[in-house]
Amino acid sequence: MHLPVLQKEVVELLNPQKNANFIDCTVGEGGHAKALLEMTGPQGKLLGLDWDPAALKKAEITLRPYGKRVRLVHGNYAELEEIAKAEYFSPVHGVLFDLGLSSNQLEESERGFSFKRTEPLDMRFNPENPMTASKIVNYWNRRELEGILKEYGEERFARRIAEAILISRGGKRLETTADLVRVIEGAVPGWYRRIRTPHFAQRTFQALRIAVNGELDNLLEGLSQATRVVSPGGRIAVISFHSLEDRVAKRFFRDTDSLSIQTKKPITPKEQEVRSNPRARSAKLRAAEKQTI
Ligand SMILES: C[S@@+](CC[C@H](N)C(=O)[O-])C[C@H]1O[C@@H](n2cnc3c(N)ncnc32)[C@H](O)[C@@H]1O
Repeated sequence: MHLPVLQKEVVELLNPQKNANFIDCTVGEGGHAKALLEMTGPQGKLLGLDWDPAALKKAEITLRPYGKRVRLVHGNYAELEEIAKAEYFSPVHGVLFDLGLSSNQLEESERGFSFKRTEPLDMRFNPENPMTASKIVNYWNRRELEGILKEYGEERFARRIAEAILISRGGKRLETTADLVRVIEGAVPGWYRRIRTPHFAQRTFQALRIAVNGELDNLLEGLSQATRVVSPGGRIAVISFHSLEDRVAKRFFRDTDSLSIQTKKPITPKEQEVRSNPRARSAKLRAAEKQTI
């Protein structure tokens, strides 16, 4: 079961009023969406998007009690504007992005998101996406591999890991997450292997997931479309889970003239939330309001 992160804080910032409409760009299991729907009755609507059809199925169950107030669409938030238009979803009083992956995707999807499990090297949110982690690991050249490990993983041993991946291919294809973890383990120094957080494979896995799903490009595109879609006075909120995502949101809010920042510093979870939900540990929430002209 996925526990929504920073739920109280998201609700406070999005400030849902009776009959207001919201877009949840990452509806997942519907935790945040449910909280918004509770506050926006009796007529407020919610458009929920997710790129993962399995997540949408879960949202469908959670949000069934809200009947026609909910519309769920399988899609990429980088196409938010087109989806909202096709659904005649307007006016929009707020938009939420709760980034990263859900506990279910990490623990049950069998798509290789976790370095702690032995699963195929897939890492796609959307199973229709032609790119997979396996294609990157088995076919990209050393320079490309090193590039994503540096840029998307901020991995200090990017070169060594990229070289080790190339050498290992001389034997046989890397099929599973465990194969990849073994190669990383052999490439990094002993002291790095012994640090518990982050785990020595964590940055490589983050880099692959971002590359497979085009996460940073999608986020930037999603944010600019959200800015066009949201009504004046409406708010956009972003929960991020690593510094690269947070940087995209922070810069976008800072550099967009039509938005005014509502969170001078990002909001982070209280100790108690982190204790009961370790996934919240690295969460940061930022929000901005579309200015009235
Ligand atoms: C952290 S979970 C959201 C959890 C949700 N807020 C809840 O309370 O249950 C993030 C979700 O974003 C989805 N996702 C990732 N990239 C996406 C994209 N580009 N477009 C739409 N959904 C995306 C994932 O499939 C995942 O279900």
